[in-house]
Amino acid sequence: MKRFQGKTVFVTGGATGIGFATARRFAEEGASVAIMGRRASVGEQAAHELRAAGGRAIFTKGDVAREEDVVRCVREAIDVFGRIDILVNNAAMSVPVDFVAADTDEWKPVFDVIAFGTYYCTRTVARHMIEAGIRGSIVNVSSINAYRALPASSHYNAAKGAMDQLTRCTAVELAPYGIRVNAVNPGFVDTPMSVVDGENELETDWFKDIYVERRKIPQARPGRPEEIASVIAFLASDDAAYVCGATIPVDGGLSVTF
Ligand SMILES: NC(=O)c1ccc[n+]([C@@H]2O[C@H](COP(=O)([O-])OP(=O)(O)OC[C@H]3O[C@@H](n4cnc5c(N)ncnc54)[C@H](O)[C@@H]3O)[C@@H](O)[C@H]2O)c1
Repeated sequence: MKRFQGKTVFVTGGATGIGFATARRFAEEGASVAIMGRRASVGEQAAHELRAAGGRAIFTKGDVAREEDVVRCVREAIDVFGRIDILVNNAAMSVPVDFVAADTDEWKPVFDVIAFGTYYCTRTVARHMIEAGIRGSIVNVSSINAYRALPASSHYNAAKGAMDQLTRCTAVELAPYGIRVNAVNPGFVDTPMSVVDGENELETDWFKDIYVERRKIPQARPGRPEEIASVIAFLASDDAAYVCGATIPVDGGLSVTF
């Protein structure tokens, strides 16, 4: 028996990187999958790939930072599959900004997508789960940046910190309804987000020197999207039935070193 047979999963930003690996993992384990994203061509292609591999999948176009889009996309998924049992809040973006020099217009969109996107999606899906009596599961894809600071990413780091705290707060508020909320905190993972200004930072000399050769990542390599997806699937499954409000680093040991 597949772990997610009969379940529907809603994955934001599920067309690429960790989100797509997660969508594929759930589909392989029997779930119907709804991918939400902004880019129709990429999203439709991802859903097509999942269907071609034998899964049930749809793409629904919308921006998680817009509450009306979230409500519409969640409704579309419910219309097609009848219910949502699992939500994966994965959508994010990051554009480097200098904290002092940047305008609010440059800082806020990143915070909006990650923090407000998680808030809109969690509340919308939780309302559906509660109304339908679904004892569901929500997994937030946070980051070790939630508790580490780096230059030029104050918006991203602050939003991931908010995401971790939202994980704990919503875990407490939704537990009485039988809904569990947890998070994964990836370190460096090889995805489209690793490409900054056309260069994959995981292939640079500085990354290889500091993180691989000098083993700042104790496991001496970046992670693969599938290695994050497997922990997300675990947290969403009954195997994690007594895990509630946890934020779990999946980073090859990076966050335990200094
Ligand atoms: N790659 C890493 O090293 C790393 C490390 C830690 C955490 N993460 C987190 O993993 C998650 C997935 O990122 P990824 O690395 O797979 O990169 P990615 O760029 O492939 O995935 C992000 C997805 O979110 C989508 N998205 C962005 N803004 C959106 C919006 N407003 N509405 C809907 N969709 C939107 C993008 O189109 C993309 O498909 C993110 O939350 C990211 O912060 C990644």
